[in-house]
Amino acid sequence: SNKKITIAIDGYSSTGKSTVAKQLANYLGYIYVDSGAMYRAVTYFAMQNGFIDELHFNIEGLISKLNNIDISFKFNETLGFAEVYLNNENIEKAIRTLEVSNFVSKVATASEVREKLVQQQKYMGLNKGVVMDGRDIGTVVFPDAELKIFMTASAETRAKRRYHELLNRGDNVDYNDVLKNVVDRDYIDTNRADSPLVKAEDAIEIDNSNLSLEEQFQKILQLVTMTLEGFE
Ligand code: CDP
Ligand code: CDP
Repeated sequence: SNKKITIAIDGYSSTGKSTVAKQLANYLGYIYVDSGAMYRAVTYFAMQNGFIDELHFNIEGLISKLNNIDISFKFNETLGFAEVYLNNENIEKAIRTLEVSNFVSKVATASEVREKLVQQQKYMGLNKGVVMDGRDIGTVVFPDAELKIFMTASAETRAKRRYHELLNRGDNVDYNDVLKNVVDRDYIDTNRADSPLVKAEDAIEIDNSNLSLEEQFQKILQLVTMTLEGFE
């Protein structure tokens, strides 16, 4: 069938959301959108423009400049997914540092920031055929998504995964700092007033603590196939 669906993948930090979302998008010929990259892009802009550092958190200043922030995605043939751009500068690598990770959840509590990004996310999903991962995709961005997945894994499992990822990138980080970041972000993301991280009522929860990337992909692909069948 040519029917296209919307797939919403939410969950805690470093549960493997973006990995499986990319796999699904490539398999189905859908667009993949990393909504977290958009919150990271805004945070990166704030850091570059002096609104945020270790001593200052000038969220009002950042909000007054939101119109100067243009976020876009361009497909990279070699990598096989779309990289994120801030005002036409490729920031795909720059936004993945532990520094950005340490500020992003606080930035993501601001309703003005969320409103801007959610509007763009809804627009990108207008024609369906999209896999989007984040924290509020099944609850706020695409409440009508045909398939919603909620990913979990223990904090230690997730911190270990993220720690190795950062080491492989060449970032010199401490495991305990990575674990603290994961735990702190879980707390801020689930406790914020605007669009907190919560499993949508109709989302399917998957704990992948003991699943390999391939096992997790196959499990979710099965759910996609079932959803597409029920749809025809
Ligand atoms: O990949 P990782 O788990 O490190 O996080 P991410 O998906 O890049 O998201 C970074 C942060 O952006 C999250 O911890 C949230 O604070 C925020 N975020 C959000 O509030 N809503 C989304 N839809 C996606 C991300
Ligand atoms: O997007 P999110 O932050 O949820 O996670 P990710 O960036 O897709 O995955 C974080 C890291 O965990 C990556 O290095 C994945 O390869 C790894 N991972 C894994 O080893 N096994 C899984 N079942 C899921 C993720």
